[in-house]
Amino acid sequence: MLERTLVLIKPDAVFSGWTDDIIKRYVDAGLTLVRHGMILFTHEQARAFYAEHEGKPFMNGLVLGMGSGPSVALVLEGEDAIARVRKMNGATDPYKADVGTIRRDFLSAGGVFNTVHGSANEKDAGTELWFIANWL
Ligand code: RTP
Ligand code: MG
Repeated sequence: MLERTLVLIKPDAVFSGWTDDIIKRYVDAGLTLVRHGMILFTHEQARAFYAEHEGKPFMNGLVLGMGSGPSVALVLEGEDAIARVRKMNGATDPYKADVGTIRRDFLSAGGVFNTVHGSANEKDAGTELWFIANWL
């Protein structure tokens, strides 16, 4: 099915200068970059974006990390884009992610643990695209 998904290149990766290399991974895989832009999360916005993780031990570090500098949001389109992007991103823990995945090849040096976000499913993609599209 033709889908759209939201990727966030998190501040750690932006600071490291990896934005272009990461975008190229998705485009080379045949996904269409529909729209992209830089966004600076306030702590409140980061907390809202990751609301499902409220109360977990990593939440405060995640919110501080996401607020530490600009992220780059990508709206990507393609057949089964949601699952394909999740597969390309790799496991949540970058050290458990396969070599060749974005999270493993571009390692986070800061609080956000890994360097990219991808929508988990169709429902989340819809919510996140609506949430982020207001800012791009
Ligand atoms: P995402 O939502 O960012 O695509 O990642 P995910 O589904 O693979 O992972 P999720 O469990 O939803 O976690 C969201 C983000 O929280 C940070 N995290 N840190 N230190 C930790 O143990 C830990 N666990 C999760 C990561 O930035 C993760 O992407
Ligand atoms: Mg998630």
